Amino acid sequence: MSDGLEDVVAAHTVLSEVDGAAGRLVMRGHSLDALAGHTSFEEMAALMLDGFVPNLPREKQLQVALGEARKELFETIVRREAVPATLSPVEMVRAMTALIPDGEGAGVVLKLLAAPAVFTPGALRLRRGLDPVAPDPSLSQAADTLRMLTGTAPTPQQAAALDTYLVTVADHGLNASTFAARVVASTRAGLVSAVLAGISALKGPLHGGAPGPVIEMLDVIGAPADARAWLEAALDRGDRLMGFGHRIYRVRDPRADALKGAIRRLGADAGRLALAEAVEQAALAILRERKPNRTLETNVEFYTALLLEALGFTPDSFTCVFALGRTTGWLAHAHEQIAGGKLIRPQSVYVGPRPRQAA
Ligand code: ACO
Repeated sequence: MSDGLEDVVAAHTVLSEVDGAAGRLVMRGHSLDALAGHTSFEEMAALMLDGFVPNLPREKQLQVALGEARKELFETIVRREAVPATLSPVEMVRAMTALIPDGEGAGVVLKLLAAPAVFTPGALRLRRGLDPVAPDPSLSQAADTLRMLTGTAPTPQQAAALDTYLVTVADHGLNASTFAARVVASTRAGLVSAVLAGISALKGPLHGGAPGPVIEMLDVIGAPADARAWLEAALDRGDRLMGFGHRIYRVRDPRADALKGAIRRLGADAGRLALAEAVEQAALAILRERKPNRTLETNVEFYTALLLEALGFTPDSFTCVFALGRTTGWLAHAHEQIAGGKLIRPQSVYVGPRPRQAA
């Protein structure tokens, strides 16, 4: 028995390798450095799903097919009456995704890859009482997501920054949401169900729900000089510092630097970045003092928060954007699991009371 399945190996995968000691991430034979900033969402999806989905369009045709999928989803699902706008953005995206008929095959894959790109901006605008912006199928998925969010075409730099983010988070070994997606895929419930399991696991604050609270932390701290006192008080209350610590990495999460590079290239607010860097340094110093036996370093979520904020997403929608990137990984893992053919069904050790023996 291993609490939290720590150190348990539960799959062979060709999809990604997380080297927690060296701080290295490899996806389908390519290092994160070679992919982030050099690859589009579409190219990454094609790379991850290569060999798993017969009839999935390739290269330029994939961008066209994703554009058509966005259009179809917008026309059939993104309506004021589809789901209550009182839900949080990630709950709205999950509820809209659940309206896609379940199944397997290239058609469902395309819809699921396109779904968070259409549903996230749609949900955010519906919650504000605005009309959703229809997709432009001629654009790349990253550019169109930003366009549907703001109503105006993004700059090439903004679209490139979102591509960098989506590629950086596309896959990450057997993380909680990917494991959840594989469990559901192993029952052959369908790819929509597998992705819904992934979204549900992702939204928790110990996984993909962390970056929203990072923004709250930066806003409350306000100035670099106030960082240490706030962080000390948070730890005194027993809170965890969001954006720090990881189950696998014992060194800095390599994705943090990939995203920090994207923030710099975007030319985002220098004062905001300086505040974040000051908070990061203070947090790392305090965590070293307080938890000398556990290496707690910056994880992907810390700079995710800054990058997505700079691109105009609200903190309550960051998890939806994470889902947009990670759906690629969930779908690839679901196919790998289905190809293996084995139902995931571990055992538990019963430690409750035993029935009384008859006298
Ligand atoms: N702040 C303060 N203390 C922490 C933190 C943190 N961020 N992370 C871990 N610790 C402490 C724990 O309190 C525990 O201390 P103890 O041994 O004195 O009780 C020790 O470090 C080990 O913690 P575990 O929970 O056993 O470590 P685990 O590997 O299960 O946790 C996790 C990993 C959940 C990511 C954790 O580090 C955390 O909660 N971080 C904050 C939330 C966060 O940033 N999540 C995003 C992760 S990245 C991703 O999922 C995409």
